[in-house]
Amino acid sequence: PFTTIFCSATRRPEYIPNRIPDPHYVRVFDTTLRDGEQSPGASMTSKEKLDVARQLAKLGVDIIEAGFPAASKDDLEAVRMIAKEVGNEVDENGYVPVICGLARCNKKDIDASWEAVKHAKRPRIHTFIATSEIHMKHKLKKTKEEVIETARSMVSYARSLGCNDVEFSPEDAGRSDREFLYQILGEVIKAGATTLNIPDTVGYNMPNEFGQLIADIKANTKGIENVIISTHCQNDLGLSTANTLAGACAGARQVEVTVNGIGERAGNAALEEVVMALKCRGDQVLGGLYTGINTKQIIMSSKMVEEFSGLHVQPHKAIVGENAFAHESGIHQDTGSNDDSDFFVKRPGFSGRHALRSRLLELGYDIDSKDLDDLFWRFKAVAEKKKNITDDDVMALVSDVVFQP
Ligand code: KIV
Repeated sequence: PFTTIFCSATRRPEYIPNRIPDPHYVRVFDTTLRDGEQSPGASMTSKEKLDVARQLAKLGVDIIEAGFPAASKDDLEAVRMIAKEVGNEVDENGYVPVICGLARCNKKDIDASWEAVKHAKRPRIHTFIATSEIHMKHKLKKTKEEVIETARSMVSYARSLGCNDVEFSPEDAGRSDREFLYQILGEVIKAGATTLNIPDTVGYNMPNEFGQLIADIKANTKGIENVIISTHCQNDLGLSTANTLAGACAGARQVEVTVNGIGERAGNAALEEVVMALKCRGDQVLGGLYTGINTKQIIMSSKMVEEFSGLHVQPHKAIVGENAFAHESGIHQDTGSNDDSDFFVKRPGFSGRHALRSRLLELGYDIDSKDLDDLFWRFKAVAEKKKNITDDDVMALVSDVVFQP
């Protein structure tokens, strides 16, 4: 039998104190609470949003897009609460995530976004306007010149409020005219944008196309060397992770993702997939790219988002699905190896106390050795009866042992 392991250790520090700029460092921008929350049926309470934001901070994401403040009073309040609390919880290394609010390119949205995020230590306004022919004509009913002027003046307006960190997205960039993109992006850079996010809004691009789009923008946009290029890939053709990685290979140093890949229609690029692909293969094929994500917090984040959003993770979902690392005896195996260079390490496997402990840590439980003994024997008893032991089984055993009255 062969086994797979979930590597929790790392060869390079995942956690980068103060996020020292490094050309290989890829910023993780999580939009679970904004784009993810737009999934039909996924509505979280403000308290749940705050808990998710706290967990995202633990996970080590660089930017939390906490919501769309202009959408409703509740949205604004939720973003404000996250900005006040999570946006001010500086850890011992000086790390505190950027808290971001989305805004269309109009003053009302930008004011609402600023009103909500300004309480954070590191606030960001993310403003967007459509740039594809079809959207400009039918949705905005604006000419190219009008769209450029709106984008330029609204980025400038956001900066004038005192926000030093402004992200701009040309919505539907994947289907926009290239020359027009270079022009509008050059203008918003001059107006003060600090991050340029390139969305494949309808999940239309192929990986080679999206990579080329990022490379072309990098090569042809005036002033681009002073800003961060970002990807935002929807998953309509199941290509969001591939497109995001292609974008990173071509020079993007921010990736927009959601936990479990939740989002409208077929969702967004999944944080766990992009992060683990960079972690496992970043050195070999992607020029040494890496993120600051604490991968031990991925499972906990996934479980929390699954529970609060009500959107179930399919069993065969990469990285966080129940079956993703299952093999015959049903739990990720300890190979006894210190070599974690590959995510999927295939070796003859064995079930053991160490494998159980690693899995418990991934699930967020640090069990002392006495309880671990007890838990391990119960685990073996269940394993004799059940071919596949799921995370829920493990968590039920933990509550039997640890939380006994
Ligand atoms: O998909 C999209 O284009 C967006 C933008 C607002 C970034 O969500």
